[in-house]
Amino acid sequence: MATLPDLRTANVVGKRVLLRAELNVTFAPGTTEIADDSRITATLPTLELLHEQSTKTIICTHIGRPGGQWAADLTVEPVRQRLSDLLNRDVQYAGPVGTDQCKDVVDSLIPGEVAILENLRFNPGEEANVPEFASQLAELADAYVNDAFGASHRAHASIVGVPGIMRERYAGQLLAAENDALSEALKPTHGVSVAVVGGAKVADKLALIRNLADRFDWILTGGGMIKAFVDARIRRNETLSEEAQLARTLWEDQDLRRKIVLPVHGKITKEFRPDAEYHGIPIEYARPAGSHILDIDGAAILEYTHLLKNASKIVWNGPMGVFEWPRFSEGTKAVAEAIADRCDSAFTLAGGGSTAEALRLFGLQDKLTHVSTGGGATLEFLEGKTLPGMAALTDSQPIR
Ligand code: 3PG
Repeated sequence: MATLPDLRTANVVGKRVLLRAELNVTFAPGTTEIADDSRITATLPTLELLHEQSTKTIICTHIGRPGGQWAADLTVEPVRQRLSDLLNRDVQYAGPVGTDQCKDVVDSLIPGEVAILENLRFNPGEEANVPEFASQLAELADAYVNDAFGASHRAHASIVGVPGIMRERYAGQLLAAENDALSEALKPTHGVSVAVVGGAKVADKLALIRNLADRFDWILTGGGMIKAFVDARIRRNETLSEEAQLARTLWEDQDLRRKIVLPVHGKITKEFRPDAEYHGIPIEYARPAGSHILDIDGAAILEYTHLLKNASKIVWNGPMGVFEWPRFSEGTKAVAEAIADRCDSAFTLAGGGSTAEALRLFGLQDKLTHVSTGGGATLEFLEGKTLPGMAALTDSQPIR
């Protein structure tokens, strides 16, 4: 990928800047109370940079998946308020793009002021990347900044349509930092490199495991997908679930098999419940149909922490068990602590929604070299894909 055009070296003094941010926050269940504002704080350095250049800043973002329609519980209002608090100045509400309200607010901005557009996904033109919608956004500004790393895997109007139109287009601080750290994670290293891949489904991690196997010495696995690997090793073809068939394709690849480490011990339950009774047993005995492996434990934790202790590069995506339930959080916590312990001597990166959430739960989010703000975007980057939002900043030929 070509080097991203960097906002830090741009002159945008006094200009109108359209900042595509990733403010897709989560709310406390059934409320519009922001449960986690880390995506808002992550974009503050870019807003600070724009403030230093006295730009007229117009922020835009999506929130949730309203499907091209207005949804009262997904408006940008809670985000606008939190941003105003964090910036210590008023962020004006500009309403939906294309309205008189939007035009009036943007036209009346003075240098240094900030406004925010309504949730982009209330308009079907955003996800469908409709050219007219992209043009309406582009017309609001003289320059475009993409700081929305977490949405840059989506070929939507505000991510690829707008930079396809505007000549002055830059990567914000967060996008640049994510690009640097994730690129570093995929580079060859001198010492031992360990990837930790957890999560519920093999199908979601297939491309990731294949790409990391080309670059890392060990891939430590965990989470719900372990059951598929156990089945893949012992069951006959005709009795395999789709998931286990996928696990078998990985397991039958000799090069991959040498690198994939399956946990040797885990917590097995009959029920999927926070208070489920469990047996700590060798994973290979976790055969009965309908049983769940809700965490790794014992010898598996010892083996994983030992391998992590000697690593000079660690990438982590996906929890080892159902860490949200204290009874089944031991494996994820042990792995998180072992990675954090390497913070002074190794490059350590974690990414993916629930991985970052686990680090926050254990109070370790500040210990790693980099904790990515992306979910799907981080996964796709680590799978070796080019993100459309990054490519749009360098590859497309702008119209104006
Ligand atoms: C995310 O939360 O991963 C991004 O905001 C993308 O959201 P989406 O999966 O709804 O496109």
